[in-house]
Amino acid sequence: MQYRLPAVMLLSLVLAAVATHLVRADAAKGSQLAQQWCANCHVVGSTPAGNLQQGPPSFRAIASARTVDQLRAFLVHPHGAMPDLSLTRKEIDDLVGYIETLR
Ligand code: HEC
Repeated sequence: MQYRLPAVMLLSLVLAAVATHLVRADAAKGSQLAQQWCANCHVVGSTPAGNLQQGPPSFRAIASARTVDQLRAFLVHPHGAMPDLSLTRKEIDDLVGYIETLR
């Protein structure tokens, strides 16, 4: 019984978060997508390894070199040896939102 109030509060926080995510890019989700689909080839976080000179550009390097519009246009199509993930518009928004946080 004593756990009920915190549980209700937690649930409403989660619901509020979900509602917010419906309307704008979700960088946290983008980060998840990046770990899942992009990390094989790109350094996706802001780790020092992002300074490596080999391989595809790190997301941090991409963040400082590209505008949001360029990223969005680029991600509509597969690239490099990247499998065709057929990213949805929402997933692209989330990924771009995440990459923006690395700027
Ligand atoms: C199989 C390896 C591979 C995967 C997986 C991959 N990439 Fe790439 N990516 C590359 C290579 C190689 C390049 C550089 C050559 C090119 O532009 O095609 C690149 C370049 C890019 C660029 C352009 C960099 C620039 O400024 O020119 C962006 C943006 C990018 N990747 C985003 C992503 C995102 C987002 C994902 C995950 C959804 C992803 N990549 C998954 C290999 C990969």
